[in-house]
Amino acid sequence: MKLKGKVAIVTGASRGLGKAIALGFAREGASVVIAARSEVENDKFGGSIYKTAEEIKALGQAALPLKCDVTDETSVNEMVEKTKKEFGGIDILVNNAGVTFYAPVIETPLKRWELVLKVNIIGAFLCCRAVIPLMVKRGRGSIINISSLAANDRHESVTIPTGVAYGVSKAGLERFTFGLASELGKDNIAVNAIKPVRVVSTEGTRYWMAEADKSEWQSPDKMVSCAVFLAQQDAHGVTGAVASDDELFAWHGLKI
Ligand SMILES: NC(=O)c1ccc[n+]([C@@H]2O[C@H](COP(=O)([O-])OP(=O)(O)OC[C@H]3O[C@@H](n4cnc5c(N)ncnc54)[C@H](OP(=O)(O)O)[C@@H]3O)[C@@H](O)[C@H]2O)c1
Repeated sequence: MKLKGKVAIVTGASRGLGKAIALGFAREGASVVIAARSEVENDKFGGSIYKTAEEIKALGQAALPLKCDVTDETSVNEMVEKTKKEFGGIDILVNNAGVTFYAPVIETPLKRWELVLKVNIIGAFLCCRAVIPLMVKRGRGSIINISSLAANDRHESVTIPTGVAYGVSKAGLERFTFGLASELGKDNIAVNAIKPVRVVSTEGTRYWMAEADKSEWQSPDKMVSCAVFLAQQDAHGVTGAVASDDELFAWHGLKI
């Protein structure tokens, strides 16, 4: 077991990629905090923090479902405080919670633009700021940000239309990743970002891209292997990387 005894927070783990990463961490022996807003399954997406927790407990691992809105400073700080109380510290943070808005810039309401940036960048900032002191106390830690190829897309709609706000937010998240890695090297905390090359089939992508050709889509497994690999890092290992799943597999010989 690669993460035995570790404590991990995964944001946006009520469904989708976050849930897959949370389960993957549990299979490797970690205790996992499931931080998201859904306490009951909704008709549109399904999934809840309690459902993910039940599945983790069925694997024989500890799970702590905590209602948390990553855009809300008080909510994030309370989530981290409760984690500390339950597990005594934090080793791993995955900033996975994310939203998008598909529309040309000219048709994007300010409210939507702000929400995308708030969840995808400010959420990651708030979660990092709250966990860093606990990682410093542990003498090591690993922060993983979930990015997207949209960060570098130069032509909207050539591949998959993701919306400019989303691309801007992921570009910001990548800049945040290597900036924070540079700040936290002295504290032995690794900070990395990963992004899938092919669309990962999740509740979100299946809903938003219902009409898309899904023949090239992938399961979350490859991203889960990348997350497990990065979760084991500290600043003596891989840090400051912004890599795709294919790159991490090639560079580090990862396997599903
Ligand atoms: N799937 C892909 O192909 C793909 C590709 C590139 C990058 N990504 C990234 O991977 C991450 C997960 O994507 P996904 O496809 O799994 O999406 P998803 O199925 O839509 O799940 C999104 C998750 O984010 C949570 N979330 C949204 N707003 C939140 C908030 N304010 N506070 C806390 N949690 C919040 C949702 O939980 P609640 O609604 O319960 O709060 C949900 O668990 C995102 O960052 C996305 O940008 C995905």
